[in-house]
Amino acid sequence: MIVDLRSDTVTRPTAAMRAVMANADVGDDVFGEDPTVNRLEATVAERLGKEAALYVPSGTQANQIAIRCLTEPGDEVILEQSAHPFLYEAGGPAVISGVTLRLVPGVDGVMDPAAVRAAVRPPNVHHTVPRLLSVENTANRGGGTVTSVARCQALSDVARAAGMNTHLDGARLWNAHVATGDPLADFAAPFDIVNVCFSKGLGAPVGSVLVGPAALMPKARRVRKMLGGGMRQAGILAAACLYALDHHLARLADDHARALRLWEGLTALGYSARRPDTNMIYITTPDAHALAARLGEHGVRCIALAADQVRLVTHLDVDDAQVEFAVGVFEWVRG
Ligand SMILES: Cc1ncc(COP(=O)(O)O)c(C=O)c1O
Repeated sequence: MIVDLRSDTVTRPTAAMRAVMANADVGDDVFGEDPTVNRLEATVAERLGKEAALYVPSGTQANQIAIRCLTEPGDEVILEQSAHPFLYEAGGPAVISGVTLRLVPGVDGVMDPAAVRAAVRPPNVHHTVPRLLSVENTANRGGGTVTSVARCQALSDVARAAGMNTHLDGARLWNAHVATGDPLADFAAPFDIVNVCFSKGLGAPVGSVLVGPAALMPKARRVRKMLGGGMRQAGILAAACLYALDHHLARLADDHARALRLWEGLTALGYSARRPDTNMIYITTPDAHALAARLGEHGVRCIALAADQVRLVTHLDVDDAQVEFAVGVFEWVRG
């Protein structure tokens, strides 16, 4: 048996998802004429309580468009020290937006409003202008942790008081919503711009949606074009996202339950990991690369994200039997 716990991005479209993709109504989306993309954008804007939306190829591009739309070159973006645009977007904020990043250490990826307030520097000719606060929910490197609606609001209040714009990287906002039961729109309300991904827990092959004020969308659309993200008959892809919204959202609770079962099994074996909020477990171990390699040899695929950290992620293509198998392999390699 192979159990792939590397990421929730490794899922493959189901037969039913492929069928709706094959039958999707399409048009040229750069002309705004793809009915399925238009339906996806309207649906996501409505679910997240925002005026307008834009379908883009990836979460990375969504983050970069958001940053470009809400800053000017020379500005500063405040974000948590393990946030995706800092760690994993190839220096995009510097190249695409000409901004500097100011990092705030959080607890398990979750920022404290007081720490953000302290990071906002007063106006001074020497300083970059703090222009944008970016929050990641759930926080990937934090351990799939949820920033509560109240904390989102408190963080946004600090930013607004400082005259800053606000962005939510909601690549896995779906998981925060299902884990807490709080409405997606409540998580989104404190932020100017929000992006969500369909290619992670929701199991679609491609795509993210950026939502925000209608007045910002022409600029977002232009930046998408500049970055090469204008796609033509993209309805084939958007159809998968619509399908995922209808069929794969509530079932994230299964991923969370499996992550918890995995965590219980691993902690019973003596492994050290924070109890998961959602679908991720980060094991702290002195020999992460060696452990990941040994697990891989026995059919459990996972990633050593640091010398002392192994990440495990549950998703659509992991069932109960695979979770039990994985726990067994962890026991075996522990010796
Ligand atoms: C929190 C977060 N934001 C953004 C992204 C980028 O998404 P993509 O891989 O679609 O570019 C990821 C990818 O895993 C992520 O974890």
